[in-house]
Amino acid sequence: MVVSNAGLINKILKLKKERNAVILAHNYQPAEIQDLADFVGDSLELSQKAASTCADVIVFCGVHFMAETAYILSPDKKVLLPEASAGCPMADMVTAEKLIAKKKELPDAAVVTYINSTAAVKAESDICCTSANAPKVVASLPDEEILFVPDMYLGQYVASQVPEKKYTFWPGYCPVHEGIKAESVLKLKKEYPAAKVVVHPECRPEVIELADEVLSTSGMCRYAALPDVTQMIVVTETGIIHRMQKENPQKQFIPVSKNAICHTMKSITIEKVLHSLETLTPEVTVPEDIRLKAIGAVNRMLDIV
Ligand code: 13P
Ligand code: SF4
Repeated sequence: MVVSNAGLINKILKLKKERNAVILAHNYQPAEIQDLADFVGDSLELSQKAASTCADVIVFCGVHFMAETAYILSPDKKVLLPEASAGCPMADMVTAEKLIAKKKELPDAAVVTYINSTAAVKAESDICCTSANAPKVVASLPDEEILFVPDMYLGQYVASQVPEKKYTFWPGYCPVHEGIKAESVLKLKKEYPAAKVVVHPECRPEVIELADEVLSTSGMCRYAALPDVTQMIVVTETGIIHRMQKENPQKQFIPVSKNAICHTMKSITIEKVLHSLETLTPEVTVPEDIRLKAIGAVNRMLDIV
């Protein structure tokens, strides 16, 4: 028997009520998941929502570190990740063991860790940051030396904004943003000379240099709504275009590359969301000793934004 999307969505909405669940989705999620969600946002907003929701169940349509962060902040809730294997390759480029070893080499450095990291890595960090607040977080620290983990490109962008610190960058990166080349942006700028260029700070420095604005995913959506922005070259994962176009149907959004796709983000489906709500699995948790250490780094960030 073929069950239509509308049938599946009705079942999800009914179960969501019964379970007192909330569906949170990242800006890169497939269009039908964004349309189904109670809230769509960037990593910072999703953490804030997870911390403040009064739902009993959080269905996290995103990747593993995002669901972990939700659990760190709301351990009394059931946090579900509809596809258990939806990870972030950048988050896996640093382990707690390797970070502990590096900290021994740099005993005076404050460890600033991008939210795209595992709970075990956050537990070894002084403070977290997201793409929405990284320069602000670093500028707020009294420390002169910074170990920035794991995104070297975001770290280099922060260094350009807060140059008075001494930086060591972990050699991690997002494969999706790393794959975006300056030539692609230059080509589109020639084709659409009036378009604004917005770039995610996970991009390479030579791509960031071409930006009119460097913004988090939700920052890009807010910028897209400005009255004087009518045409935009969007230099990040293509899933975000759905939200921009939906919120600004009269404007033109040009994706930098059709290949800028995060496949783990796209592994969440309507069927999997329904299965999660039916079975209350796959659940994401964090061992309590790690959670208690990690929440310090996350809350220090939330306190300053
Ligand atoms: P944002 O916090 O800007 O949404 O970025 C998250 C992410 O994974 C970007 O690749
Ligand atoms: Fe990770 Fe990059 Fe996917 Fe964001 S786009 S979740 S950083 S792999």
